[in-house]
Amino acid sequence: ATDLTGRHFLKELDFTAEEFRGLIALAAELKAAKKAGAEVQRLRGRNVALIFEKTSTRTRCAFEVAAADQGASTTYLDPSGSQMGHKESVKDTARVLGRMFDGIEYRGDSQEAVEELAAFAGVPVFNGLTDDWHPTQMLADVLTMTEHSDKPLTGIAFAYLGDARFNMGNSYLVTGALLGMDVRIVAPEAYWPAEPFVAEARRLAEASGARITLTEDVAEGVRGADFVATDVWVSMGEPKEVWDERIAALSPYAVTMDVLRATGNPDVKFLHCLPAFHDLGTAVGRDIHARHGLTELEVSDEVFESAHSVVFDEAENRMHTIKAVMVATMGDPVA
Ligand code: CP
Ligand code: NVA
Repeated sequence: ATDLTGRHFLKELDFTAEEFRGLIALAAELKAAKKAGAEVQRLRGRNVALIFEKTSTRTRCAFEVAAADQGASTTYLDPSGSQMGHKESVKDTARVLGRMFDGIEYRGDSQEAVEELAAFAGVPVFNGLTDDWHPTQMLADVLTMTEHSDKPLTGIAFAYLGDARFNMGNSYLVTGALLGMDVRIVAPEAYWPAEPFVAEARRLAEASGARITLTEDVAEGVRGADFVATDVWVSMGEPKEVWDERIAALSPYAVTMDVLRATGNPDVKFLHCLPAFHDLGTAVGRDIHARHGLTELEVSDEVFESAHSVVFDEAENRMHTIKAVMVATMGDPVA
């Protein structure tokens, strides 16, 4: 069994490929047990703090449902609901919460903040998304890939299109490199991950045998891909003003049926961490439509609603994988 007792979950780079795959295997076991009505609670009596300095649907609900399934309780601290960062330093907050809770989830912009929480809390700290990394999302995406492919991870090719300088691009690049996958980052060069992330990925690839491609060419980037992924073009915390430049730069990288056809793989699957802008169902989408005349952004509605799309399996898997992280780091040993 995967035992990461007392460990933090801050970024993919902190784990070996074996540990990462162990978490995926544990998540698959927990998922199967829940579906069979045979879940064994290993987090009874634990208390988990959920600090969200940015909004969330999936990550928050995943932590709350996973904790409840496993017999733990959660306390949600919303962006305005705690003193942290306003009246109290991260370091002091860490030392207070560490006295009360058995684990702490943190979502915010700064990776330094989640690392500082971890340094001073004395209990496991989980990164629920920062500007640099979205590591719990990677567990869900890799689990989803294993469920929708017969190949071993080292045989899977995936392409990420869009803004790759942020959490999702960095995390895909480094996770694929860690696990020995064929990773393609497909974006204008200005939107590729920053050099330190690329250097880490190349270092990991030497050990894992991963193939790493960064390209501006969509046809080359997606050829032969098993999975095509994208993310929003403007992330949480970025100003609204950047929409114009993003639409101009990234429109050629929108995931359309033509892009899926260019893979040459009739069974190609589409991934998106969500939320996604593919119709007029959101206020942001309606605003973009009013200003730019567009109803679809990073992905077409046709792709999103097609049989290629596995985005809701991916969303469900957030819960099973976050459960695995909590069980592995804070859980009772297996009897
Ligand atoms: N994918 C993801 O992290 O979703 P939320 O922002 O809803 O948590
Ligand atoms: N890149 C997106 C991911 C959302 C889950 C953001 O940071 O807003």
